[in-house]
Amino acid sequence: MPQRRVLVAVTGGIAAYKVPELVRALRRAGCTVRCAMTASAGQFVAPLVLQTLSGESVRTDLFEREQEGQIDHIALADWAELVIVAPATANLLAKLASGLADDLVSTLLLATRAPLLVAPAMNVNMWNHPATQANVATLRERGVCFVGPESGPLACGWEGEGRMAEPAAIAAEAERHLGAPTLAGEVVVVTAGGTREPLDPVRVFANRSSGKMGYAIAAEAARRGAEVVLVSGPSALATPAGVRRVDVETGLEMRDAVHAELSKCTVFIAAAAVADFRPAARAEHKIKKESLADGEALTIELVRNPDILAEVGAASGRERRLVVGFAAESQDLVAAARRKLERKRCDLIVANDISRAGAGFDGDTNAVTFVCPEGEVEELPLLSKREVAERLLERIETLREKRS
Ligand SMILES: Cc1cc2nc3c(=O)[nH]c(=O)nc-3n(C[C@H](O)[C@H](O)[C@H](O)COP(=O)(O)O)c2cc1C
Repeated sequence: MPQRRVLVAVTGGIAAYKVPELVRALRRAGCTVRCAMTASAGQFVAPLVLQTLSGESVRTDLFEREQEGQIDHIALADWAELVIVAPATANLLAKLASGLADDLVSTLLLATRAPLLVAPAMNVNMWNHPATQANVATLRERGVCFVGPESGPLACGWEGEGRMAEPAAIAAEAERHLGAPTLAGEVVVVTAGGTREPLDPVRVFANRSSGKMGYAIAAEAARRGAEVVLVSGPSALATPAGVRRVDVETGLEMRDAVHAELSKCTVFIAAAAVADFRPAARAEHKIKKESLADGEALTIELVRNPDILAEVGAASGRERRLVVGFAAESQDLVAAARRKLERKRCDLIVANDISRAGAGFDGDTNAVTFVCPEGEVEELPLLSKREVAERLLERIETLREKRS
């Protein structure tokens, strides 16, 4: 990782004694490392140790000034390409989840646009506490990555989950995050989430897509150095670092947004669940229930929405752009995906069997099968959506190499 800029934020857990090893591992890998510490962290490891090993001054105080004319903590937050929090205390996780910024480390973490890699360490009961678990779930939702904690004997005398991951494992995870920019020069447009098709000013037809798969793909493509545009249906997920997000609501808006980005796009990935149909007309006023007699049926006329994937497939010369579609199927997965691949002139279909436990909408995992035009089929095991995104982009890189 030569010259990569890593900020290590140290908080007040006993595992802080292992941070000097982490700093050394990152330096050995070629990174430039700067450290920031909470006041409590200073009880467990001396700033001078980290300063000596990193070769950089260590920041502990929000209000100490290093450089005239700049706000030091913002400069440091902007400097980092990756921020590692190790160890991350229960307190820090709570502050980060609720957006508190009352010291140098929490303020830095709120200000940075760099990806966050968090290595929690604490007593097993603190880790298992519903408050901590809820904070971890919130942070994962926002795209924060975790390494550990591991199980084993803890410094407090208890045994169980709560040990900080080993410095070598944290450094390896950092390397994965800072991997070579293998998609540099590519402009990747990803659609994500479901669309909402309005019936009247109050009601919409929606679907169960959370956007998690598309957001994971966008994050991974950005990590690999691509310029990434994420065209997203309504979603509570945080925009991944380095990604430009365009918010849309309906299928028609999504189509317009995609077409507006198409001229520069070299890889198009349609992960959104665009509604196939929309109400033929949108009532100007809320449809009153009194407009129907008891037991009388309300008939809503639906029309087809545009097929964005097919439009992009038809508009994309093979040499110009790679087109990847998703197919959510509950039967004859591969055959259905192959038909979609041909009909929509795609280079790859990612088929997911939504009848399988742990696959498809809303969850954090997915089980997909890659279906390629040359007849190749690769079935992946149940993986996290981040891992699926990694495997998909590896495949896209292979397709791109074959083309060139
Ligand atoms: C000896 C000792 C060890 C501690 N170890 C941990 C720990 O491993 N994890 C943790 O979350 N808190 C630990 N704490 C509690 C934190 O230091 C405390 O919650 C503190 O407020 C954290 O501040 P910070 O998050 O700003 O660094 C420990 C406290 C003491 C006295």
